Amino acid sequence: MADSIHWFDSIDSTNTRLLADKDSLPDRSVYAALFQTAGRGQKGNRWESRSGENLTFSILLKPEGILAREQFILSQVVALGLLDFLRSEQVKATIKWPNDIYVADKKICGTLIEPTLSEGRLSSAVAGIGLNLNQKDFDPSLPNPTSLSLVTRRSYDVKETLPRVLEPIFARCDKLYSPYARNGYDAEYMEHLYRRGGWHAFEELPVSVVPTEHRNGTRIEARILGIDTDARLLLEHRNGTIHTYGFKEIKYIL
Ligand code: BTN
Repeated sequence: MADSIHWFDSIDSTNTRLLADKDSLPDRSVYAALFQTAGRGQKGNRWESRSGENLTFSILLKPEGILAREQFILSQVVALGLLDFLRSEQVKATIKWPNDIYVADKKICGTLIEPTLSEGRLSSAVAGIGLNLNQKDFDPSLPNPTSLSLVTRRSYDVKETLPRVLEPIFARCDKLYSPYARNGYDAEYMEHLYRRGGWHAFEELPVSVVPTEHRNGTRIEARILGIDTDARLLLEHRNGTIHTYGFKEIKYIL
C-alpha cells in the first residue's frame, strides 16, 4: 500500500493536485502533504492545518458501476473507515452529516469529496481528508476543533499513521461491490450519526446564494429520522411534520 502514497512537503491542495492528475493514476492513489498552502474545505472555506502536525491527504477512488445518484456511498465508506481507525485508537467518534467526524461536540476531521461524473455514473472521486492528529491549539475563529492528541494525550507520527487510516477505508471500499455490504453501510452510518436520538436545536436556512454563515435562519427543535436516498437529512419537527434538507439548508446549533 505504501507505494501508492505520494508525500509532498508542501503543496497547494492535495485535492486540487489529485483532481488534476486523476486520469493518469490508478484507483486508490493517495496524495498526502505535510503542509498545504491552499487547503480547501467545505462551502468554499479554507482548511488550515499547522505544518507537519496533522494528516491532510486525498484518495483517488475509481469504483466501477456506481451511479451518480448513489455517490453518497463514498461519503459513507470514508466516514465509517475513519471511525474504524479512531476506534482502533480507543476513540468513540460520530459522523456529523454530511462531512465531519466529531468526538463528543468537537470536530476532529473534515472531508471534502469531489466526484467526477460521466453519463450518469461516477467515473472517479477525490476524497480529501483533514484529520487533526497532533495540533493542540487552533485559530480562535474555528468553532470547535479538536485533535487525536487532545483526546488521547498521545502524540502521533504523521507518516506512520496514514497507512493505518487508509487500511479500514480501503477495506470498506473492497465491499462496495456487494449489495449486501452496501445496505449494511446505511444502517451503520445511521447508527453512528452525531445527535442521533432525542430532540436537538437546528437552524433552518433559507435557500439563497448567500453563504450559509451569512444567512439568517430559523431556529427549530427536531430529531433526526435518517438520511434519504438523495443523501438529504430527514428531520421530524416538534409538531410532528417531517422535512428533508440539503447540507446548505440546515445547520446544527452546537
Ligand atoms: C471541511 O471540513 O471543510 C472539509 C475539509 C477537507 C480538508 C482536506 S485536507 C486534504 C484535502 N485537500 C484539501 O484541500 N482539502 C482536503
